[in-house]
Amino acid sequence: MARNKVTVIGAGNVGATTAQRIAEAGLADVVLVDIVEGLPQGKALDLAEAAPVVGHDARIVGTNDYAATAGSDIVVVTSGLARQPGMSRDDLLAKNAGIVRAVVEQAVRHSPDCILIIVTNPLDAMCHVAMQASGFPRERVLGMAGVLDSARFRTFIAQELGVSVEDTHAFVLGGHGDTMVPLPRYSTVAGIPITELLSPERVAALSQRTANGGAEVVALLKTGSAFYAPAASTFEMVDAILRDRKRILPCAILLQGEFRTTGLFVGVPAVLGSGGLERVLEVNLTDEEQASFDRSAAAVRELVGKLGD
Ligand code: APR
Repeated sequence: MARNKVTVIGAGNVGATTAQRIAEAGLADVVLVDIVEGLPQGKALDLAEAAPVVGHDARIVGTNDYAATAGSDIVVVTSGLARQPGMSRDDLLAKNAGIVRAVVEQAVRHSPDCILIIVTNPLDAMCHVAMQASGFPRERVLGMAGVLDSARFRTFIAQELGVSVEDTHAFVLGGHGDTMVPLPRYSTVAGIPITELLSPERVAALSQRTANGGAEVVALLKTGSAFYAPAASTFEMVDAILRDRKRILPCAILLQGEFRTTGLFVGVPAVLGSGGLERVLEVNLTDEEQASFDRSAAAVRELVGKLGD
């Protein structure tokens, strides 16, 4: 069987850690791309030199040239700028939109059949840019946010109850960040909804901490943003696709009527397999939950509106 090939664009914290996880799991050969000369080459060499110790045979190449990415099964996009002091959110949106557009155009020229996984923030808006730049169907443009948001929620629930994260499941919908919609009645510990195990106040506090999860890490790190959990979450999506696992993972996808929303990338539970998005898992929402979902979708719509055409 031919080896799978994954390109990771952006050899920064999230990109390099994602490359490491993919290679060390022996899941695929990895091509690491960055605009900075030497950076992807150096990190790829360092990762390759860990292979004899870790014990895997994945090939890892670093490059500034997209020719080496040809024929990738999956392209993960992490390239972008972090918000600098004095830079508004809208400035960041425009800058990262330009970067995502440019890298996606180049990547899909060499890998026209790939599945795109977008990680660059603001996530939901960057998915729109990637979709436009690639011309791909919605099955092959997926945004990584929900896996991370639900991982954070699971962490906080498990810590609060003193139970294993393995027995803790969380259900999160909506856009990435402030307007995320955690669904406590579908979030469970050993199958028991957390609403039966925690007070409404504690559930609200944990949901709030989850929505603020990225900012909490930034406030501690001061010079960067989270990357271990984002990389692990991206890896889980790559694994589900390459091994055709039909995992149900919350992803940002282009909605076409699901959850009463059309034409917007919003996080919903998706069945992931070798075709990328294989099915959206729709669930009934209460009026209150639907209203939160609609608010989240409206926030995505506003951001996308600022992108222009
Ligand atoms: N082409 C290729 N790489 C680029 C380009 C470009 N046009 N522009 C920037 N990059 C690279 C940078 O050189 C840098 O190495 O993207 C990398 C980003 O890495 P970091 O600054 O370390 O950022 P990281 O923490 O990895 O986050 C990347 O993921 O979670 C999101 O919000 C986060 O949008 C951010 C992204």
